[in-house]
Amino acid sequence: MNLEHNMSRQLDHVKPSVMMNYNAEVAQIEDVIRLTVGEPDFNTPKHIKEVAMQAIKANESHYTTPQGNPKLRQAMANFLAKHYDAHYNAEDEILVTVGASEAIYDSLTAILNEGDEVIVPTPIFPQYAPIIEANGGIVKFLDTTEDDFILKPEKLDQMIEASNGKVKAIILNYPSNPTGVTYSREELNALVQVFKKHELFVISDEIYSELTYGIDHVSMGELLKEQTILINGLSKSHAMTGWRVGMVAAPKEIMKKISLVHKLSVVTAPTFIQITAIEALEAGEFDAQDMKKAYVKRRDYLIQALTDLGFEIKLPTGAFYLFAKLPKQVNQNGYAFALDLAYQAKVAFSPGEAFFGHDNYVRISYAASLSQLEEAVSRVSKYLAKLS
Ligand SMILES: Cc1ncc(COP(=O)(O)O)c(C=O)c1O
Repeated sequence: MNLEHNMSRQLDHVKPSVMMNYNAEVAQIEDVIRLTVGEPDFNTPKHIKEVAMQAIKANESHYTTPQGNPKLRQAMANFLAKHYDAHYNAEDEILVTVGASEAIYDSLTAILNEGDEVIVPTPIFPQYAPIIEANGGIVKFLDTTEDDFILKPEKLDQMIEASNGKVKAIILNYPSNPTGVTYSREELNALVQVFKKHELFVISDEIYSELTYGIDHVSMGELLKEQTILINGLSKSHAMTGWRVGMVAAPKEIMKKISLVHKLSVVTAPTFIQITAIEALEAGEFDAQDMKKAYVKRRDYLIQALTDLGFEIKLPTGAFYLFAKLPKQVNQNGYAFALDLAYQAKVAFSPGEAFFGHDNYVRISYAASLSQLEEAVSRVSKYLAKLS
């Protein structure tokens, strides 16, 4: 018997991911330098790994409270207060999740009803749109390319006015994956006026908040706590992608339903990893600093080298990505270019359309060593020379 025809129709709305198709194809090519990765190339700091080993030995292997280990929730609340002046009660306004990914899923599932519209400024991390669609929501993309990837309050207001009250929420992600762009306090305050006027939920994914260069991160948790569902985690700040530690911070009335989704799906994040995460936030408060120094060097090298090759790049002030417009001599779209480059020059960039961006862009991750970046630039340079 084949019951395939009888499964959830809600998931049929989810479109296939461009990134997965591209990665599957590139995975077949040998010796490719992959500047497609969305995770730090650093290892998790030693002091964090040691606490994990001790926690396993001490049999920290039982269920813990669904909301998360109380000490970890307090450490998360302290982190948000100290670093971003965002004040949450550890008791009922913080939830420990399995990565920021679960935090995004829980938050969207908790607020959406069939037909609710969610504004998603593009280009953007590709995971939000399918989760919105899987929950019966409608994605309203708002392209920011012309505005240097910064969402403009007037354009946002116009889009909401045109929606006849159907817009329920907006996704913000800054520093941004894939553009590396982040917002100043002034820019955020102007957006806050629109969020307030239309009483939107603001899902603010600040997973790259510890990785900003020459600009301080300002959290929506500080500016508009009452409407914000704040998402963060340890994946990028502590090079802990595989440990899966995320967090949601939200006012307690909103948190109730978000926690419910979490309880129904994962019950609780792994116990010994939560204990490890306390170490990361307390003793490793500044672990991101050394990584930041390396990222800035790489960013500066890459921007100069790629600009010299004809790519157009807006200076990113956060995360570890460049979102680059293709040089004039390239006649293909971003997907075809990225694929050809991977086959011919053995360098992989992510196609811009994977992030719902314009198709003449690519995302380049600099979570790779300087020597890898230099080799990649040399290969791209030879490839482009053949084109012209
Ligand atoms: C913007 C953004 N949000 C969330 C995530 C997922 O984070 P996590 O690995 O903690 O689930 C990523 C990972 O690349 C990301 O870039």
